[in-house]
Amino acid sequence: MPEERYSLDDEHLPTTLGTEFITKFFRLLKGTTIYDRKNEIIDRLTQECLQVINGIIQSEGNLFLKIVRDNFFFNNIRIQVKADRYAIFKAFWQEMRRRWIGEVEFSTEVKREHLKDFIYLLSGLEENNESNYLYATKQLEYRNIESIHVGKLEFFKDEDIYIDSEDQKKYSKEVYFKSIGLVKEVVESINQQKALNIRKAKRLMQNAVNAIMQDDSTLLGLANIKNYDEYTFNHSVNVAIYAIALGQRIGIPKKHLSHLGMAGLFHDMGKTKIPKEILNKTGKLSPEEWGLMRAHPVIGTELIMRMKEWGELSTRMIEGAFEHHLRYDLTGYPRLTRKRKITLFGRIITISDFYDALVRPRVYNRFPYVSEKILGIMLDRSGKDFDPAVVKVFINMIGIYPLGTLVLLNTNEMGLVTQIHEDTELIDRPKVCLLYYGDGEYRKGKVVDLSEIDEATNHFKRSIVKTLDPNEYNINVAEFLI
Ligand SMILES: [Fe+2]
Ligand SMILES: [Fe+2]
Repeated sequence: MPEERYSLDDEHLPTTLGTEFITKFFRLLKGTTIYDRKNEIIDRLTQECLQVINGIIQSEGNLFLKIVRDNFFFNNIRIQVKADRYAIFKAFWQEMRRRWIGEVEFSTEVKREHLKDFIYLLSGLEENNESNYLYATKQLEYRNIESIHVGKLEFFKDEDIYIDSEDQKKYSKEVYFKSIGLVKEVVESINQQKALNIRKAKRLMQNAVNAIMQDDSTLLGLANIKNYDEYTFNHSVNVAIYAIALGQRIGIPKKHLSHLGMAGLFHDMGKTKIPKEILNKTGKLSPEEWGLMRAHPVIGTELIMRMKEWGELSTRMIEGAFEHHLRYDLTGYPRLTRKRKITLFGRIITISDFYDALVRPRVYNRFPYVSEKILGIMLDRSGKDFDPAVVKVFINMIGIYPLGTLVLLNTNEMGLVTQIHEDTELIDRPKVCLLYYGDGEYRKGKVVDLSEIDEATNHFKRSIVKTLDPNEYNINVAEFLI
């Protein structure tokens, strides 16, 4: 490995090397689930990974990767995950967790065939088998591969770990619907001037953070489901979810993520003081009505300031309530008398709010924008209305075809997007659950991966032709997704 490639300060070296290794290693691991070992793509991925591994061995003498909770240690130094690599790290983490492998070590330079043996061995390990590392070690010995070692993934007892994905889904659903219930309660208590149950809200947001850190697909999926009733309650919870998921990808520490969730959950608190007739008006608003609508950030801020219960949280809550209709270039409302920078929380919540407000139908928005279009608008206004860095991370997170999107494939099949690839190169090739029509209704078929290649033709097996409106086909997305 040429040395000038790593000309960064020593401090950053472990992060750079570790990131490079994980990226290549993860691509190779993913490759094994699609191609067999004779495929030329596997050859290329193996070669690329090999180059990185052996380069590191040459310069560092050893390559040791250890996972502790959700942290990665490269040669015993913690890797600082960059926002643009976040998705890959997380996906890699999930793959390793599923196999209970928490350590990988290369002690000398590796041979190509040995790396291939190892990666297929790793890829083929059983799910959730705690003794996988013993089996893998034996297999490596048996094949005389002395330079590669693996170790068990150690969990910490105090951490809520949801190994089972069904449990995880159930937990996420519970968090989502409890949060909606909570928002309702809060609105009522504000209207009746009763005390708020802040402790409960905090706990729920901590649960949401835990769930999102394990796997954000269920909660993001729930946020993406369009629901005609109870828009306001759903909206608050969705904004909190988008904000937490986004904040996590940006690298905001766990403790602050639940604060971000709280700020998201209560960003529109000021709307509780605006008459329902105005909020739900389908026609055009009069200038006075508009004036009132535009006052909700200030009203919300006042409501928060008046409540003592928030404690240290109040500054954060105010950022959400006050800034969420302010644009990146400081236009928008409320009008500022003194120019100041919008906080990171404010910028995150603005983007989450904008997306959720446009993507879901409501009384005065009968035909919601499809998300491709919204993401296009966001890109267009990036740097003016929105923080360009946050927009980028957001678009990577949502994907071009968000979870729950109904799509038509070139095979004339119809399906729902159920999983988005973490690799941005595959952003337009999600996993899709096929739907079949029979006996007067649509039924769930198998889940297909649009990144799959037909070996005979060397083309993708299936591609998306266009998105469809689930209402036109009487498909209740929620039913299939959760
Ligand atoms: Fe708002
Ligand atoms: Fe809002």
